[in-house]
Amino acid sequence: HFLTLKTQTPSAILALVHRSLMFKHHKYHGDGKTVVPASAVNQLAGKTLALLFTKKSTRTRISGEAAWAALGGHAMFLGAGDIQLGDVAKGGESWRDTSTVVGSMADAVFARLGAHSELEELAAYSAAPVVNALTAKFHPMQALADIMTLYEAVLGPAAVASLVATNKPLPPLAGVTVAWVGDANNIINSLLVSLPRIGVNVAVATPVGYDIDDDIQDFVAAEAAAPSPYPYGSVTYTRDPRVAVRNADFIVTDTWVSMGQEAEKSAKLRAFAGYKVTEAMARDGGAKSDWHFMHCLPRKLEEVDDEVFYSKRSLVFPEAENRKWTAMAVFEHVSGNNPANI
Ligand code: CP
Ligand code: NVA
Repeated sequence: HFLTLKTQTPSAILALVHRSLMFKHHKYHGDGKTVVPASAVNQLAGKTLALLFTKKSTRTRISGEAAWAALGGHAMFLGAGDIQLGDVAKGGESWRDTSTVVGSMADAVFARLGAHSELEELAAYSAAPVVNALTAKFHPMQALADIMTLYEAVLGPAAVASLVATNKPLPPLAGVTVAWVGDANNIINSLLVSLPRIGVNVAVATPVGYDIDDDIQDFVAAEAAAPSPYPYGSVTYTRDPRVAVRNADFIVTDTWVSMGQEAEKSAKLRAFAGYKVTEAMARDGGAKSDWHFMHCLPRKLEEVDDEVFYSKRSLVFPEAENRKWTAMAVFEHVSGNNPANI
């Protein structure tokens, strides 16, 4: 299963990102004929991915279906309204029964659900590996694509091409600073359990009432003290977005109202006043002059203005595209093929 980056070692994370960079490199600089490099051609032939989604999706669905197909397999989308899943008391089918059946016929399950416990229950009963396509707690596939995007921006195309060609491991991103200005949600949780372990400093600004979950803060503190061959990035928490963006190389945000929180919208809009990412905020806070903007998308109008979102600073569309390349690396990994050498 691939439910969270908490349980992936830093070297496993970097190996998956390396493989993802290689897939992307093949598209833009390969032979111009094949969709994937020789090591990946048809490796999922005859295999089926079940996408089990109880929430809407653009990027995750497209990247999941496209990635699985690029590796020669067949993907099947099962929306909440398409299958029997539901409250058993109201005539629906349980997670346990659904998972046992889906996992007996599909070769992997890509699941976008509500509570993370739903995903854990699905995984407990599925004979096929389950990959997290987003829960309220974690979005590991997004974080992997974000890490890939950081590497592309920090190293530049020539260094990426060289690392791909030589198959040398990715270096940690020591000294790189990411500022998160926004909600304490699944995206920052996934970044906090991964980025510091590959050397990235993370400065988090969230408003009163929206602290990062205790278990995530505890994980960050425990990992900081744990032995590792990689340098550990610093992690700081503040209420003030301008404090968070000081010396930032990247400013990252997300919607203030995640899927399932629609009833909290007006309270959240009030709580997040002053959190919109703008040029003025970055300048006043002292972000590096060449800071980049990232956002997992979909973007709402309140958390970032158009001047930033559509600027040269913005990496949001390569970040979205990178979802496909990282999905390919994860799918071949959970399918038992291990070209990433994890
Ligand atoms: N970033 C992301 O997961 O987008 P979707 O909700 O469109 O899949
Ligand atoms: N935090 C957002 C991410 C969407 C991709 C949500 O969970 O709705």
